[in-house]
Amino acid sequence: MGTGKTNRVVLIGTGAVGASYAFALMNQGIADELFLIDLNEEKAMGDVMDLNHGKVFAPYPTPVVLGSYGDCREADLVVICAGANQKPGETRLDLVEKNTKIFKSITDQVMGSGFDGIFLIATNPVDILTYAVWKYSGLPKERVIGSGTILDTARFRYELGTYFNVAPQNVHAYIIGEHGDSELPVYSAADIGGVPVLKRIARDPEASMEDLDRIFIQVRDAAYEIIKRKGATYYGIAMGLVRITKAILHNENSVLTVSALLEGEYGESDVYIGVPAVINRDGVREVVELDLNEDEKERFAASAEVLRKSIRPLF
Ligand code: 2OP
Repeated sequence: MGTGKTNRVVLIGTGAVGASYAFALMNQGIADELFLIDLNEEKAMGDVMDLNHGKVFAPYPTPVVLGSYGDCREADLVVICAGANQKPGETRLDLVEKNTKIFKSITDQVMGSGFDGIFLIATNPVDILTYAVWKYSGLPKERVIGSGTILDTARFRYELGTYFNVAPQNVHAYIIGEHGDSELPVYSAADIGGVPVLKRIARDPEASMEDLDRIFIQVRDAAYEIIKRKGATYYGIAMGLVRITKAILHNENSVLTVSALLEGEYGESDVYIGVPAVINRDGVREVVELDLNEDEKERFAASAEVLRKSIRPLF
């Protein structure tokens, strides 16, 4: 893992998500150096130039460099945003074939450098591709992390915050499961400033469970709505990736909903899926096991099965 002297991040894939990640990382001054790799080297070089020009305005002047796979050897974190993204109407799982092929080649090249750090995967279907990188790389599961439901959770907190008129930072609520159509909200562990959401609903005549369900559907389908309007989503996920990056590089032990490998937690195994997990310099320190109610347990198991069905033909 790196030299220990610097926090080196290598980003693979400088499309809309990757470039937004680089921009957000630069603006928050989290990495000591950032290497950009893309199949389209001219595009990556353009991003290197553009980002370096903004250095003077940044809280920390992160050196941004055009990278090659050899640079992964000293990397603490390799973030993969490369691959095809959804066209309007396509589901995340529709991308599986295209992107697993791309990921085999990327992972082999990263590992060929002697890389021994942490992988963070953002490309969809993120749970499947994170599993693929774990298999292809041979790294311990702790060091292969997917962005999972970090963005869905952020969307949920935002929407609940708007509904209850409370800052999203004070809304604690998770979306778990597949980052995709089978995900679910965990109402049983959701609170607004310490008051359980279900209690709040019972007390507040203006609020209802129907509204919460409507909010969840909006969250689950948010990406379709954005893709319909602007062809892709990138700012939200980029900021979520930076949040995970910070938790890793700053050894935070923060609880974030990421895609982690389950080995018995939640009664599931051999699947990467969105769950709250404690994230630090070693990657996933542990999966947080929420006390799910019966309905949530069933929905989570169904979501894990959706993912396993997609994984099975591949490995
Ligand atoms: C998103 O949820 C498309 O996975 C991407 O915004």
